[in-house]
Amino acid sequence: MSPVNIGNVQIEHPFTQAALSGYSDLPMRRIARRYGASYTLNEVVLDKMVLQKGKGQKRILTKIEPQDQPVGGQLMGSDPDQFAPAARLLADAGYNVIDINFGCPVRKVLGRCRGGFLLSQPKQALDIVRRVVDAVAHDVPVTVKMRRGLDDTPESERNFFAILDGAFEAGVSGVTVHGRTVEQRYVGPSRWEFLSKVKRHVGEGLVFGSGDLFTAQSCIDMMNETGVDGVTIARGAIGNPWIFGECVALATNAPLPDPPSIADQRECIEAHFTESRAHHGDGLAGRLMRKFGIKYSELHPCKKDVRNAFIAVKTPDEFIEVTAHWYNPETDWPTVTRHNGKGDLVAAGAVS
Ligand SMILES: Cc1cc2nc3c(=O)[nH]c(=O)nc-3n(C[C@H](O)[C@H](O)[C@H](O)COP(=O)(O)O)c2cc1C
Repeated sequence: MSPVNIGNVQIEHPFTQAALSGYSDLPMRRIARRYGASYTLNEVVLDKMVLQKGKGQKRILTKIEPQDQPVGGQLMGSDPDQFAPAARLLADAGYNVIDINFGCPVRKVLGRCRGGFLLSQPKQALDIVRRVVDAVAHDVPVTVKMRRGLDDTPESERNFFAILDGAFEAGVSGVTVHGRTVEQRYVGPSRWEFLSKVKRHVGEGLVFGSGDLFTAQSCIDMMNETGVDGVTIARGAIGNPWIFGECVALATNAPLPDPPSIADQRECIEAHFTESRAHHGDGLAGRLMRKFGIKYSELHPCKKDVRNAFIAVKTPDEFIEVTAHWYNPETDWPTVTRHNGKGDLVAAGAVS
């Protein structure tokens, strides 16, 4: 397991936290890092939100503390005149890498010619890439996040490779490829064979793989099967930050750690909640942590009950009560299971 260089930014190992809209805020990124992620990405932000003076801009451009680095700032937009200055502002705020989003499949985003839509517009996409590289690349590396195409047509694939080649020619330091099409959204598998093809095509160029990474073993398998240089863990890390440490253990031939005990889970959820409250205030933290609680519940031996308890939470105090009750290490719980992101039991371990 070697460090990975994203341009001049070295990350300790190849197991990274993906950009996740609605999730990978500062609190989630801190938790991911605490449990072993080498690098994290923010939830995507719109270029115009970065440029528009106001509360939103202030929140996005809050100075990144050294302990929260290395971190990538992901941007989405359609107009190079806005994209480039927004990238510069993110770099000035302390984001160590600028990541350009050419993957978002949300209908509203596509309708506004952003995200995944740009995979069908190589000229415009590459205009954005060149302008962003010009704006920041003398000090901050630029990467691109892509799906494997807009759809399954040969034209989509040609466009993908035109953007891929053009981006490396323009000076990007790496790409992340999600092996689903934009049209596919999240239906059906991520095509890992396509990642192999991309890696063979770019040779030395840095490629991170994405898609269907729900266990540490799947991360190792993706790297071995496709040759990608690293992985970005997305849904598999929501409510399961232990996945990063498990990846490191597998990659270094160390024994896989036991699944997190009830006490471990409680410590993590409480730390996450504390971070979220400090960062967002009680109202938003309560709403966000309800979502996370539902995901954390998948590791609990009584996951259905815990899930329902988190769903019913309405206030921060109720969140604390649910956590204290369901994660009481003194209770005689059934065996703890390992999370696989799909609700299946993968392995069992001791409770204490
Ligand atoms: C709720 C959610 C939010 C996401 N937000 C982003 C985002 O902001 N930027 C991005 O590049 N990808 C985003 N993605 C895509 C993921 O980073 C990842 O590429 C995708 O989920 C495939 O990986 P998985 O199958 O292992 O989850 C998001 C995915 C989900 C499920």
